[in-house]
Amino acid sequence: MSGPLVLGIETSCDETGVGIVRGTELLANVIASSMDEHARFGGVVPEIAARAHLEALESTLHAAVEKAGIALADLDAVAVTSGPGLSGALMVGVGAAKALAVALGKPFYAVNHLVGHVGADILHDPGAADRGELELPTIALLVSGGHTSLLLVRSLTDEVELLGETIDDAAGEAFDKVARLLGLPYPGGPQIDRAAADGDPTAIRFPRGLTLPKDLVAHRYDFSFSGLKTAVARHVERLRDAGEPVPVADVAASFREAVADVLTAKAIAACGDLGVPRVLLGGGVVANARVRTLAAERAEAAGVSLRIPPLSLCTDNGAMIAAIAAQRIMAGHGPSDLGIGADSTLPV
Ligand code: KG4
Ligand code: ZN
Repeated sequence: MSGPLVLGIETSCDETGVGIVRGTELLANVIASSMDEHARFGGVVPEIAARAHLEALESTLHAAVEKAGIALADLDAVAVTSGPGLSGALMVGVGAAKALAVALGKPFYAVNHLVGHVGADILHDPGAADRGELELPTIALLVSGGHTSLLLVRSLTDEVELLGETIDDAAGEAFDKVARLLGLPYPGGPQIDRAAADGDPTAIRFPRGLTLPKDLVAHRYDFSFSGLKTAVARHVERLRDAGEPVPVADVAASFREAVADVLTAKAIAACGDLGVPRVLLGGGVVANARVRTLAAERAEAAGVSLRIPPLSLCTDNGAMIAAIAAQRIMAGHGPSDLGIGADSTLPV
């Protein structure tokens, strides 16, 4: 396989990621996470994340270069996530990428984080099963601790449209908050997933945000999880006030069902509405067992093909950022202006 040799840096949240690709071939994907440092606060603390990136970036970069077996001088370009994400965290990566590009005399590419998540899917990871080529257009559902977005992707280089997003909490954030109120440690997603395995998903009918007929007019592809989180909190409070035990497995399973139901229903609805028979999942919440099975069931029932990249490429990483820059180079797009800075609210 050939194509431009690109190094990508990702620091939008708590993962310091450096990836190296050659065209669509994955050469290295090294990630250092500051998750443990945030655990006692129950969520990502922006200042801690920024400082952790500063501390981890150099060794992560060297590890990626070593893993890829390349020399920095061989690179064709340096890419970085310029937004959206946490301001201070983004600034560390953007500053480092610009410095590297200038020092090496290589072109600099600023990449949108959400588009990067879609780009993860085109990488050929020799360690993972071959999943064939990504076909476009596709609907993409990106769900993590920082975002919950539904996209229509026509091309990876310039035609990505945001169909909808969360109007309050991200799905992963909801998992983390509900885990906390059930007394489970951070990050809560995997904990809830595990607890839910022994529970009854129909035990409690928790609300599905933005799915009423009136919501479907203005917010057809948007998500809301704060009402669900409050409903779980009230349910648990009522039981505790009455001195009754909290059936953690049932609450976890019923909550997980509500999240998986809304995420997959809206993604599959977008496929139908827009006549796009493909859906791609990305983001850390894709690890969720129920999200995966319900997505597979509903995609099959709707005649939609479902793609889920390997989990190491679903969570935040630098390889996906490098992949998008490589696509832009191959499509003949020029580099980004070195004047571009970190933009925490960068739209797609
Ligand atoms: O993409 P990601 O690794 O990074 C950031 O958002 O920074 O996503 C992390 C999020 C956390 O909120 C975590 O609780 C959630 O993904 N998560 C899960 C599962 N594994 C991770 N949520 C539900 N079920 C899981 N199995
Ligand atoms: Zn992300």
